[in-house]
Amino acid sequence: MASELISYDPGGALLPEHGLAAGDLANLAGKLDAARSEVLADDRLWADGGDVPPHKQPLDAGFMELPERLLAEYRAEGQRSQLGRIQSTADRLAAEVDRVVILGIGGSYMGARALLEALCHPYYNELSRSARDGRPRISFEGNNVDNDSLQGLIDLLGRGKTANSVDDRWAITVISKSGGTLETAAAFRILLAQLRSACGGDAGKLAQLVVPVTGDSGKLFDLAGALGCPDVFPVPDGVGGRYSVLSAVGLLPAAIMGLNIVELLEGAVAMNEHFRAAPVGQNVVLDYTGICHLLETRRGCDIRLLSTWGKRLEAVGLWYDQLLSESLGKAERGAMPLTVVNTRDLHSRGQQHQQGKRDKLVTNVLVARPNREPLAVSSSNFNQDGLNELADKTLPDILAAAAQGTNQAYRDDNRPTTNLHLPALCEHVLGQVFQMLMLATVTEGRLVGINPYGQPGVEAYKRNMNAILRSR
Ligand code: PA5
Repeated sequence: MASELISYDPGGALLPEHGLAAGDLANLAGKLDAARSEVLADDRLWADGGDVPPHKQPLDAGFMELPERLLAEYRAEGQRSQLGRIQSTADRLAAEVDRVVILGIGGSYMGARALLEALCHPYYNELSRSARDGRPRISFEGNNVDNDSLQGLIDLLGRGKTANSVDDRWAITVISKSGGTLETAAAFRILLAQLRSACGGDAGKLAQLVVPVTGDSGKLFDLAGALGCPDVFPVPDGVGGRYSVLSAVGLLPAAIMGLNIVELLEGAVAMNEHFRAAPVGQNVVLDYTGICHLLETRRGCDIRLLSTWGKRLEAVGLWYDQLLSESLGKAERGAMPLTVVNTRDLHSRGQQHQQGKRDKLVTNVLVARPNREPLAVSSSNFNQDGLNELADKTLPDILAAAAQGTNQAYRDDNRPTTNLHLPALCEHVLGQVFQMLMLATVTEGRLVGINPYGQPGVEAYKRNMNAILRSR
């Protein structure tokens, strides 16, 4: 399974009207190759620590070879490496507590949620501890400012009651690159007080149960030092929030959930190798970038639907929504991402996608096989529902028919669709998907002349919110 690569089929975008012609992607090959060369040169410039020209600033290209660097260090240093320490901290927490609250927002949250929903048991938190293989339940907070939501979590955590058994004990992983994001900081302050009282005021115990992931300076870094937290993990320099899923930001939560973080990184490395070597027409990153770009610029398809099939990839889509929006939504440009979950959304958004404005490109994300034994409809003596005709069909058969039927309906109406094929849902494949979409985003940025790094537009609301709060 580890060697299977994801693949991209743009066939459904080759349409006489409202789509592309067969040679359009090949004609763009020169520009795509140039954009790829620029991405690779950015990576080298960043790694060599050379002077970054003003038009390239900020240049947060450190995400690209981060998987290679982390794996090389792990192979050389084993348990002493960052991956080794992430794994041993995760295992320590799993032995000590039954729930880890992960605090973070934006790039410090979306990747961990994507990993949980895509790769863990669909009802993970509701399983018994042994069915979770002894891994802790996961709760996300600090990703909003919602009083009743946080109060609800505090109900679950026991309202600061001293925790005597492992089933009652909990820990916090607080993730913030800047260390100053108000949503996360406020939730941390409130939950830290709860945890302190659950630890009976024992400062040593409290420090063990708080694991920060943050930059190498800033308020959270200072707070971690003051609390005496023994395990603090970095958000590496030159890796922006939305590009950080394959750093400790996503890897620590993944390890806490019991996922194989080495396979995640190996998937990303496989995607890097593919990106560097494969020509346009066979390169999943360049082909996806080229088709999205051509449909946007030639056909006005500036809404990109990431149409996920089945229930497990919605949070991967939401992670990608952030990646595309914050990276390319600048200077009054940039396509609009939208995550769709089918077949669910065929019953809500489907009408618009079939017959609404011709401003959408659909990228289906299709998983070839389920992880579990397929469930069959089976025959019944009660055939009032008429399903005996489908008795030998399984749920994967029905999902595949729905996807094929939807693509056909879109094609008949000249609506462009493309398919991203995933061989299965596992760590290696998800590592490929994350890396593919990050590479595609920076490649498109270089193709169209938008700096994919930095998010100056997000700062304005933070400034205003802080000014309003501090002036009252
Ligand atoms: O992509 C980004 O940089 C942002 O979405 C950040 O991840 C988000 O604002 C949270 O920032 P921080 O990690 O500094 O708390």
